[in-house]
Amino acid sequence: MCGICVCVGSVNAVKKVFDGLKILEYRGYDSSGIAFIENDKIKCVKTVGDISNLEEKISSLQSNIAIGHTRWATHGGVTIENAHPHLSASKNLAIVHNGIVENYKELKKEFNISTTSQTDSEVFCDLIEKENGSLLEKTISASKLVKGGFAIALLSNLGEVVLAKRENPLYVAQTSFGVMATSDIYVFCDITQKYYTLSDDEFAKIENGKIFFFDKNGKKIKKKCEKIKKNLKKVEIFEKTHMKSEILETKNSLFMTYKNYQSGKLFEKIFLPKKLESICLIACGTAYHSALQGAMYFKKIKIPSQAYIASEFRYGDEILNKNTLYILISQSGETLDTIACAKMLKEKGMALLALTNTENCYLNQICQNILPTFAGKEIAVASTKAYSCQVFVLYLFSLFLSGKFLDKKKDIEDFLKELSLTDIDEEIVDYVASFEKIFFVGRGFDYITALESSLKLKEITYINSFAICAGELKHGTLALVDDKTIVISFCTFKKTKEKLFSNLEEIIARGGKVLVVSDEIVPFKSVRLPTFLEEFMPIVSVIPMQFLALKICEKLGYNPDKPKNLAKSVTVE
Ligand code: AGP
Repeated sequence: MCGICVCVGSVNAVKKVFDGLKILEYRGYDSSGIAFIENDKIKCVKTVGDISNLEEKISSLQSNIAIGHTRWATHGGVTIENAHPHLSASKNLAIVHNGIVENYKELKKEFNISTTSQTDSEVFCDLIEKENGSLLEKTISASKLVKGGFAIALLSNLGEVVLAKRENPLYVAQTSFGVMATSDIYVFCDITQKYYTLSDDEFAKIENGKIFFFDKNGKKIKKKCEKIKKNLKKVEIFEKTHMKSEILETKNSLFMTYKNYQSGKLFEKIFLPKKLESICLIACGTAYHSALQGAMYFKKIKIPSQAYIASEFRYGDEILNKNTLYILISQSGETLDTIACAKMLKEKGMALLALTNTENCYLNQICQNILPTFAGKEIAVASTKAYSCQVFVLYLFSLFLSGKFLDKKKDIEDFLKELSLTDIDEEIVDYVASFEKIFFVGRGFDYITALESSLKLKEITYINSFAICAGELKHGTLALVDDKTIVISFCTFKKTKEKLFSNLEEIIARGGKVLVVSDEIVPFKSVRLPTFLEEFMPIVSVIPMQFLALKICEKLGYNPDKPKNLAKSVTVE
């Protein structure tokens, strides 16, 4: 959420920062901007909307110091005034900021700060300017007054650059053309092999082409350089959109994931509680849906398990247990609520396991155990291949815990070999899109696929939809069903097939239409899936629904990669 890019170098830094922002755009695309030094003054260029709008404005600019930002609006609407970078009252300091200054209203009042934007970020900038000492000293003391997480880069008219971080990610690297900093190491692909990760309440100063690190007391510290892993590569897409490419990559992503797990070694490395009594899975959004599927797999092997939404778990009164394994699931490994749960659980000495798709993410740094998914970088805001890989790893882990991992080798390999991704016919797409109300239902693990399918549809088509357990319809929601309603139902969970059919008849009797997604011939209009063992079906049945959402989105003329109001990583509460 919000992307930061900084360049202090021997080349045109404005262009380098712009190139970085283009890579970061998936983190927020409400507006973008770059601040740079020209004739000892800070100049600022900003635009609203697509980053291509910024390209024209910066094409003739030259400077060897620049800081830039792509914004996902939190405080203040999507306007030029609210776009970053923000300047201090004197215009001698510029800030780019990711995060939220929770007490910005109090600070504004206490320090008598007047701003031109409605953002908390501008208050942060003025607050720093009002402190005493060097830019670094001012930043350190202002940070102590700020409540909430942040990653900031500051540029003064004297060409000083300071970085600070608490909770939100920030990386910095020495490159062949100077120093670069960014909120996503992905920007460093093809630029450098080594980088530094700023930890919470650490600061960096870029001076004379060098990076100096400091702790919260302003004491110089040494930091260890990290290496960029070989598999971190720039994404090339062969389809019109990232989302389509990513759905089509699912089979390969599952295959790569299995390749890394097939020996079982990654599971053997995990420190489990001495007596594993239960599993608690915590996540947000799509990752929460994979947590729900995971809980089902673990219950199947008789381990009591429950999935929680991170933003609820952290403020709930859950009873913690040292014999519980807490699995925190996050594609990005940056989701603030999930991270907050991990931190809280770590403080209480619980056994943690991170299931992430991003190397060196914050969540991995907190948790003692890591299960990576090898889905490859996911850019589209709507998660697709990463979801399938999360579900797959949780299934494999359940096999490992049950001691049956190797026995199932053949079934898994057959599944991966024979899996074909079910697309959806245009006729069905048009049919579904012609309804005013689109509900998703299922029973057992099919209900979870319904939840995920409904989220995908809402997220990129803006059609109001929801998912409900099929058996729950008659307890209230059936009142909404009429001839403007289509109910998409999943039927791969065999135990309740007959019951589900009765639920569907009840819908038809009220004038609603049904579409059944199943691997069997069913007496309803249907989308036919290939047949696999039941445990693989959650991975199989979500695919045509990802295509359905994508195709409706395209028909409506929206960009599936950048749904309105959203961003890929949610680094604020
Ligand atoms: C998925 O399509 C969504 N964009 C969203 O629900 C996402 O899964 C959620 O924000 C969690 O993200 P994470 O996996 O990176 O933690």
